Amino acid sequence: MVVTAKIVKNIKSNTKGLGVAPLTDRNGLCQLDDEIFISLAKIHASSFEKQWPAIGFKNMFRPPDGRKTHYRAMLMVKKNLLIGFVIFLKMVDEAEIISMAIAPNCRGKGFGHILLTKSIELIKAEAIKKVFLEVNIQNIAAIKTYEQANFEQISIRKGYYKSKAGVKADALIYAKSL
Ligand SMILES: CC(C)(COP(=O)(O)OP(=O)(O)OC[C@H]1O[C@@H](n2cnc3c(N)ncnc32)[C@H](O)[C@@H]1OP(=O)(O)O)[C@@H](O)C(=O)NCCC(=O)NCCS
Repeated sequence: MVVTAKIVKNIKSNTKGLGVAPLTDRNGLCQLDDEIFISLAKIHASSFEKQWPAIGFKNMFRPPDGRKTHYRAMLMVKKNLLIGFVIFLKMVDEAEIISMAIAPNCRGKGFGHILLTKSIELIKAEAIKKVFLEVNIQNIAAIKTYEQANFEQISIRKGYYKSKAGVKADALIYAKSL
């Protein structure tokens, strides 16, 4: 599946055209225009059974009451096209990865690994000392990506996930000290 992605020109890329940059800066301010939320929703919809609408992303990063957000998004572009994201929720000196995805046509090429590694460097610069996440035990690609980045499994939540078809699966809880 090819996801129509937004052209993001203000993210610096390396010689291979790959770039990773925060959508929200360390003060919780959102850097890019509204179209980005539509693109995030498209990549999310192509990656997960449960969809998040563009307005959900917008409310997360530009809260309607004008508050600063505690969410941080790291975006990945290839040749100026948005191909992936990681979303962290910052809680004082800890953070939780609440979502991560690479557009389906770009998976299995090492981009998830690069995005996660670079995102962790960026979140570390915000004085985050520990990052947590949960992942479906059946999601081998994600588990490999997190373990490759030295996340360690710390616990398991039995039957935590339930698919639309009603099938239950365990959640693995991972953590990484920065
Ligand atoms: C999880 C995800 C972000 C990984 O991104 P990616 O760009 O495909 O990952 P990479 O190519 O960097 O691969 C990272 C590791 O995972 C492994 N991997 C990737 N896809 C795999 C697959 N389908 N099956 C088994 N291993 C896989 C790679 O081999 C690599 O491990 P290795 O170097 O030890 O061999 C991507 O698959 C995705 O968006 N999935 C759908 C959304 C999702 O599940 N998000 C995570 C929710 S917790």
